[in-house]
Amino acid sequence: MRKHIVAGNWKMNNDLAQTETLISELKHQIKTSNAEVMIAPTATNLWQAYQTLKDNTVIEVIAQNMHFAENGAYTGEISASMLKSIGVNTVILGHSERREYFNETDDILAKKVDAALANNMRVIFCFGELLEDRKAGNEETVVGNQIKNALFHLKAWDFKNIVLAYEPVWAIGTGETASPEQAQDMHAFIRKTIADQYGYEIANDVSILYGGSVKPGNAKEIFSKPDVDGGLIGGASLNAEDFFAIVNAF
Ligand code: 13P
Repeated sequence: MRKHIVAGNWKMNNDLAQTETLISELKHQIKTSNAEVMIAPTATNLWQAYQTLKDNTVIEVIAQNMHFAENGAYTGEISASMLKSIGVNTVILGHSERREYFNETDDILAKKVDAALANNMRVIFCFGELLEDRKAGNEETVVGNQIKNALFHLKAWDFKNIVLAYEPVWAIGTGETASPEQAQDMHAFIRKTIADQYGYEIANDVSILYGGSVKPGNAKEIFSKPDVDGGLIGGASLNAEDFFAIVNAF
């Protein structure tokens, strides 16, 4: 079902004490919400975050990454069933930082998506073009291929557990945001890409989030666009007041 979602991707920030502090501030601020609210602490703090929020009906704890294998000789990695076993039911996959710094390819991401879905997890699947792609006018080709290569082997019903997140790489952590019109144009293209393959019934049900320098000052305008169903928030999710203001933009 298409929903409004605001998810905070904390990336590699916040040790245990900082995680506890930020969560207690968020619990205090976010009592109700018109959007689903999620936070993605670093892996070592997921268990504690989950324990602190398990009776909280507003904020869901989600993971930033996982491996595609069920278990085995993958030193340093975490599987879907491990996440599930500590109460984590949603995972971010395909973030541009994973693609760039950890060489995650479309093929690897397709396997990760399959593993998450096989474990009844929900996936926030990220993609987005580089600045050079946009300058060359290739952004739709790049984004279309990222979606097709990692997701088009799925069955239509799998999309009930897929959330899409368009994050233009040039807007991540740069302070430069896609304009609301650029975001809307790309989100409409993404929805059409899904519709061409699976039909509009499926495409209209998929939530498509925007990520890239979303702040309290620009969230409302970006979220007001018809194909923007929410945001994946990096830097601003590390500050309780800012994140609260973005959640409240809905
Ligand atoms: P910023 O909000 O810091 O630009 O990060 C966006 C992002 O990468 C969320 O996943």
